[in-house]
Amino acid sequence: MEIMNVGVIGAGTMGNGIAHVFAARGFNVVLVDTTREILDRALSTISINMDRQIKKQVLTEEEKKAALARIATSTDLAAVKAADVVVEAVYESLKTKLELLPRLDQLCRQKTILASNTSSLPITQLAGATRRPDRVIGMHFMNPVPMIKLVEVIRGYATSDETFHTIQNLCNALDKTGVEVHDYPGFVGNRLLMPMINEAIFVVYEGAATPEAVDTVMKLGMNHPMGPLHLADFIGLDVCLAIMEVLYEGFADAKYRPCPLLRKMVHAGHLGRKTGRGFYGYE
Ligand code: NAI
Repeated sequence: MEIMNVGVIGAGTMGNGIAHVFAARGFNVVLVDTTREILDRALSTISINMDRQIKKQVLTEEEKKAALARIATSTDLAAVKAADVVVEAVYESLKTKLELLPRLDQLCRQKTILASNTSSLPITQLAGATRRPDRVIGMHFMNPVPMIKLVEVIRGYATSDETFHTIQNLCNALDKTGVEVHDYPGFVGNRLLMPMINEAIFVVYEGAATPEAVDTVMKLGMNHPMGPLHLADFIGLDVCLAIMEVLYEGFADAKYRPCPLLRKMVHAGHLGRKTGRGFYGYE
């Protein structure tokens, strides 16, 4: 199936990055969000990020102009009805996504593939809210989208081979590497990363080492570019907790229990960089 027209729902952190990479690779994009202000902000973010790529000589001025001209924006979901693929990047809320998927299912053509950028919700459950579960798939981009090569391509229980191959080819066309993953809690990336972060928090909780010590061990000893607690602050401790809860509930296994210190810090509103305080200060 040839893909030319792409719809992106949600123009936040991930949505604007996803629209950026599709447009830069020659696809026509319709970017949808709830207000004009959000859409304007997204377009200006895309323009600034493309300027960075121009500085790094990854993109030319002409390519930027052409890419921006390929992005249309709308506050009306029906604007994506001609899309070949729709990628949703709305809030990480099962309720929000379960409301959105049936609406897309009704609006879009029968052959359109509906992809979700969810980082933790079950693709099979999202697919079950449509009449086309064979054409629903996870397309889990990483932040910042223009920089990171990986896309986890998540097959729901009923995702067809054809849908999977179309999306794998689409990842190649975006110069990304799509990795096939089946639909189990946390997929692969978060299932490995979050328990490591959670364990680092247990080390601090038990007084075995300070945050600085934990991060130094992992940076200097294991060659990680960033220590797990520093990384947790960047991701947001609320997001880390939410993903641990998904693993804990999804596998019903005590090995995924969220550290009480993580929960306490989230309750205290010390969510990391975005609130100015987490394991480190960011004033
Ligand atoms: P965000 O909060 O920055 O953006 C979400 C956007 O969706 C907002 O602009 C909001 O107005 C819009 N929205 C909400 N409901 C809508 C609806 N019904 N119709 C149209 N627009 C709607 O969220 P972010 O961080 O971009 O996350 C989006 C998705 O990407 C989530 O599923 C998240 O788990 C996933 N993700 C996030 C990553 C990250 O580092 N932020 C990394 C990988 C995946």
